[in-house]
Amino acid sequence: MPNTKKMLVAGSANLDFVVRAAHVPAPGETVLGRELELFPGGKGANQAVAAARAGGASVRMLVALGDDSFAAQLEAPLRDAGIDARIVRIAGSASGSAFICIADDGENSITVAPGANLHLLPEHLPAFEGASHLLMQLEIPLASVQAYAQAARKAGVQVVLNAAPAQSLPRELLDNIDVLIVNEGELATLAGTQAGTSLSAQCNVVGVSCVVVTLGARGALLWRRDQPMIEQPAFPVEVVDTTGAGDVFCGVFTAELAGGAEPASAMKHAAAASALACTKLGAQSGTPARGELERFLVERSSGNPA
Ligand code: RIB
Repeated sequence: MPNTKKMLVAGSANLDFVVRAAHVPAPGETVLGRELELFPGGKGANQAVAAARAGGASVRMLVALGDDSFAAQLEAPLRDAGIDARIVRIAGSASGSAFICIADDGENSITVAPGANLHLLPEHLPAFEGASHLLMQLEIPLASVQAYAQAARKAGVQVVLNAAPAQSLPRELLDNIDVLIVNEGELATLAGTQAGTSLSAQCNVVGVSCVVVTLGARGALLWRRDQPMIEQPAFPVEVVDTTGAGDVFCGVFTAELAGGAEPASAMKHAAAASALACTKLGAQSGTPARGELERFLVERSSGNPA
């Protein structure tokens, strides 16, 4: 039976060119890495795939692809995950790509060549068609993010923004965001407060009433104005690759909310999915399906380290 809960993701898709190396090169340094591997990625696509696999809601994605050979490699995983992909095809443009170095200690560095992602325009927004949540990131033009957020707000659709990559944002956009998801660096950029300012004070300054801060191996917290903070510890796993772990968190968190879950439960599912995503190489490879996610949560709550 089709899921009656629906969400829309509007965002990027990139083909990730991944090289593992002893360490991430410093400026001016050349590092000899190991073999090159290609994976589907892009914050938007990673989040859409994670949301669809988590199964809380049926997922539609608005995405722009080029007319190159990468496009098919980016489209296939969206279809495989059961996503209703609304693809804007950009003639004469390359699809997005990302160049990722993963160090043996898990650290990574990512450079994105946005390609077609920069051609996703305000007029490309499809009808919301019953979606309760719109999930976006910042790898498409800011004017489009603003236009989509405004349209969603007008239509009564909840707007979830993962403000990544980090940049400061105009008040007009922040005023249309219902849930902001950031890591500590992104929060600091948005808040612009002095070093040492507490996370809750920074959340307060940003002026969005619900902020989720992801803290890597320390877990995540959910801040809401005038309400107690929800702290979600990370689930310890054997880490292979943290690329896209934040995206999995965003996708699953939003899918859970769209499916009607309470925020604390959505945080737990998102943290578990994000941990599982770190156990495989590639931004979408470790994204768990619903059954795997539920089994992991049961194992971990019964004290079995899996
Ligand atoms: O968040 C990880 C993603 O960032 C990668 O998949 C890469 O494509 C960049 O968008």
